Amino acid sequence: MAYLLGIDIGTSGTKTVLFDVYGHTVASDTQEYVLYQPNNGWAEQDPEDWWKATVDSIQNVLKKSGIDPAEIKGIGLTGQMHGAVLLDKNNKVLRKAIIWCDQRSAKECEEITSLVGAKRLVEITANPALTGFTASKILWVRNNEPDVFEKVYKILLPKDYIRFRLTGEYATEVSDASGMQLLDVPNRCWSDEVLEKLGLDKSMLGKVYESPEITGVVTNTAAEITGLKAGIPVVGGAGDQAAGAVGNGIVKKGVISSTIGTSGVVFAYSEKVSIDPEGRVHTFCHAIPNTWHIMGVTQGAGLSLQWFRNNFCHEEMSAARLIDKDVYVLLDDAAALSKAGANGLIYLPYLMGERTPHLDPDCRGVFFGLSAKHEKRDLIRSIMEGVAYSLKNCLDIIQDMGVEINEVRASGGGGKSKLWRQIQADLFGRDISTVNSSEGPAYGAALLAGVGSGLYSSVEEACDATVKVVTTQSYDKANHQVYSKYYNLYNKLYQSLKNDFKVLAEIQRS
Ligand code: XUL
Repeated sequence: MAYLLGIDIGTSGTKTVLFDVYGHTVASDTQEYVLYQPNNGWAEQDPEDWWKATVDSIQNVLKKSGIDPAEIKGIGLTGQMHGAVLLDKNNKVLRKAIIWCDQRSAKECEEITSLVGAKRLVEITANPALTGFTASKILWVRNNEPDVFEKVYKILLPKDYIRFRLTGEYATEVSDASGMQLLDVPNRCWSDEVLEKLGLDKSMLGKVYESPEITGVVTNTAAEITGLKAGIPVVGGAGDQAAGAVGNGIVKKGVISSTIGTSGVVFAYSEKVSIDPEGRVHTFCHAIPNTWHIMGVTQGAGLSLQWFRNNFCHEEMSAARLIDKDVYVLLDDAAALSKAGANGLIYLPYLMGERTPHLDPDCRGVFFGLSAKHEKRDLIRSIMEGVAYSLKNCLDIIQDMGVEINEVRASGGGGKSKLWRQIQADLFGRDISTVNSSEGPAYGAALLAGVGSGLYSSVEEACDATVKVVTTQSYDKANHQVYSKYYNLYNKLYQSLKNDFKVLAEIQRS
């Protein structure tokens, strides 16, 4: 039997999944690591932790499955996008990686806009300068840690650092590279103009491939460490959102996904480079050659519930351990006892600033309407609803851009919750479905490996052969009406607080 391996370098951990050629999960393993937050709005991780988690999870998957590693025909990499891994000449990591949700680089975004020109930047990179993207993180290091910057020899994205450890190649692929803000997105290659204007040398970047292309093979050293067989091809893979989209079959017009991972994303396929003039949603290359995608991103989706769990749900965590259940199932059960609108409580999910629709690194989370009658269940439900309101902002913008939407597929850790899916359906006023594989980006990355190693002739064929809709939930008209009122108020709240968020940020900086 032929097998494919998908490796997802996520924000909370690395998940490695072995699939058979029919897309069935054979074995899966996740190894977690820490997120460092040295300052409010900063987020860093240690690339060595990613590598260790990758090695452990590969070894565990091989052990659990008992297969002969020689039967693995291809490896696909995916992971959190935008993080900057800085290597010196000896391939030593120079500092912790500044990752996607870090918001420290607002000044560098202004610098990028003035160096490249706002209009030209959007023409080339398809997006305005954003704190979330890699370029502003690189410039932050240049401006604030010049002794580190002068030693930089290579700059890699998180999954591409793992590629380097597995294959010895400095390489990336178009979907993830789009999020660096150094790529010419319409032409799918590094932009000499942007690099020159920012004073960055192209030799610092990896070679750019299309997602299903083979970028290298597992080296003898990596084989010895992981237990894989030397010579297995490693394809480009994709950023977590594009890979997740492949795994959900978002490879044609009309079908979009709504994903609740650490971040939350509404993702649509596009045959052309289509840009929101206000830059509120991102336009990136898709993992299918010669296609693009549009996505709205809310920074603190699953992150919001995880933050609440970690700080306020110790009892539920102990109970879950005792009865051997996922604690999120208990949180779901509690939220289900509240009702649509969380008894008049609205949560703004801006724990790490916000991208879509506000592009504001300084806004922060809010519980609005809190009263003495509220219980924990209302807070949990309001968090789930707040994330859904933010996803609706993404959906509205994408719809206003003229994108056809016939079907919404829920995915991500949050998409596993029937209640969270129902909240989305009720708020969006649309039915919502799920597909057969719940392995997310790792599944999409493995399908890309299947294309690269010749098991499938195209990404579309791989999806047609393996991705099937398995559940559909209808929306409740009465709840839709309730949510429409709360959604209007939710939108007003940011506008009312916008300036106060800036004042709060200034106080903290002073
Ligand atoms: C996408 C984005 C997130 C991260 C982490 O632009 O920032 O999806 O990749 O999931």
